[in-house]
Amino acid sequence: MIDVLIIGSGIAGLTAAINASNNNSKVLVLSKTYPTHSQSVQAQGGINAVLYEDDDSIDTHVEDTYKASCKLSNKDNIKIMCQNAKETIYWLDSIGVPFNRTNENKISQRKFGGTKKIRTCYSSDYTGLKILHTLYDRCIEQNIEFRNEHLLLNLIIENDICIGVTALDIKEGTVKEFFSKTTILATGGYAGIYTNHTTNSYSNTADGIAIAFDAGVELSNMEFVQFHPTTLENSNVLISESARGEGGYLLDQNMNRFIDELKSRDEVSRAIYEKIQRNEKVYLDLRHLGIEKIKKLMPQERTLAINYANIKIENELLPITPASHYSMGGIKTDINTKTNIKNLFACGECAEASIHGANRLGGNSLLEIVTFGKVAGLNASNEAKDVIQNQSISNQLNENKKELDEIYKIENKINFYAEKERIGDLLFNNLGLFRNEIKILDLIDKIKEIQSEIKSMGISDKSKYYNKNLVEFIEFKNIINVALLVCISALNRKESRGSHFRLDFPFELEDYEKNSIIKKSNDEISFKFEEIR
Ligand code: FUM
Repeated sequence: MIDVLIIGSGIAGLTAAINASNNNSKVLVLSKTYPTHSQSVQAQGGINAVLYEDDDSIDTHVEDTYKASCKLSNKDNIKIMCQNAKETIYWLDSIGVPFNRTNENKISQRKFGGTKKIRTCYSSDYTGLKILHTLYDRCIEQNIEFRNEHLLLNLIIENDICIGVTALDIKEGTVKEFFSKTTILATGGYAGIYTNHTTNSYSNTADGIAIAFDAGVELSNMEFVQFHPTTLENSNVLISESARGEGGYLLDQNMNRFIDELKSRDEVSRAIYEKIQRNEKVYLDLRHLGIEKIKKLMPQERTLAINYANIKIENELLPITPASHYSMGGIKTDINTKTNIKNLFACGECAEASIHGANRLGGNSLLEIVTFGKVAGLNASNEAKDVIQNQSISNQLNENKKELDEIYKIENKINFYAEKERIGDLLFNNLGLFRNEIKILDLIDKIKEIQSEIKSMGISDKSKYYNKNLVEFIEFKNIINVALLVCISALNRKESRGSHFRLDFPFELEDYEKNSIIKKSNDEISFKFEEIR
């Protein structure tokens, strides 16, 4: 029997796998894609840590993170992350992550937004990618078992205990069940539901969050979605915050700087988007940095600008626009990464670990997913040691088989791909950087309309093996379900805080200094606010 089953092979999942395996657990990682394709690569600019306490301190890192969260986080959780940050970086360094270094052979750090201190360690502008690939190497070295191209379908929960999952083996087109003593969800966030308005990859479709919710797992702070200020106009390809951290300017169409480029992401994004709404252009100007610095510190940004916009950033201005980038909300976890379901853990962007609250600091996402990936791996592994034997019988497999058979039978009258794009546009326009009740209610109506039409949306490809059409249909249903949860949460938070800006309630209100909790019980959605613990 598997001790620790990990769903998702991004940085959180792989860190959990390495730590559980080091703790003598039998580990299996299930992944929808190949590990090296995971969304973690999009965290380009760096990972925060106070390494040298001459000008900075752990307390300042804690305070910066708490301030950015707009009081919606737990300082004790933040402290754990920040106190361990130095050790986290040195561990990554020791396993081979190629951090940039100074002439004195210290790990280089750059400035990121929302803080005045220089504490973001980096590997050019490939930090997430380098960490991910190094962790994957390590997993291979440790003989950790992977099943790639498996799409999560359901959690298997018996007597309120998670005993495994069902998944679609995409290659074979069959449903499989995986029983385990403990399970960790590390399936990524939900910023990708903003189709065509997101930096996230095509495969980021909030599957784990949708499935956990359906199984009765509590979600928290779903209204908080971070919009990254600088993505390429038209394609929304991310241009890392490192560009501004290294001294890049934001210019309006009259060539004037209009905001401190290193304010927090929510403020910078709103300032840019106000201009874009007035049909004005906004540019990122990196010309003054010079080709040498750009090539050394931002090689990826340079290549992306050439490939996706045909622009040489050392000579030309880069037109940019904000896009959905990161989700602060997700599966509610405690400090041990436990969910409200026994033997089910969550870490990484799919989890809400009371760290980022209403707004995340750049460079804190990588730190969080490595920190809590480790916590999840160790705790799930230790807990597995106390699980004597799990029941290995469930109806879930048969239910999923029946559901899939039904999908094959649906007459394909409405094109779900078009609906997916429509939802992306609606989310961006009605639940984007500026929100109000009328727009959210309108969006809820439209989502419910789409949900009621799903029975007329099916797949045109009826084949079994590698049926991408089928996978994307299941993903589409997850997107729709999660979109509704973001709407409900945003509708109920009648204030503005961090990334959640309500034009009809433009101020932060003390009454809402609470976490929102959304949960499904007896087929009903329940919503409440809860004190921060
Ligand atoms: O801008 C960036 O490099 C993104 C980093 C992050 O999301 O932390």
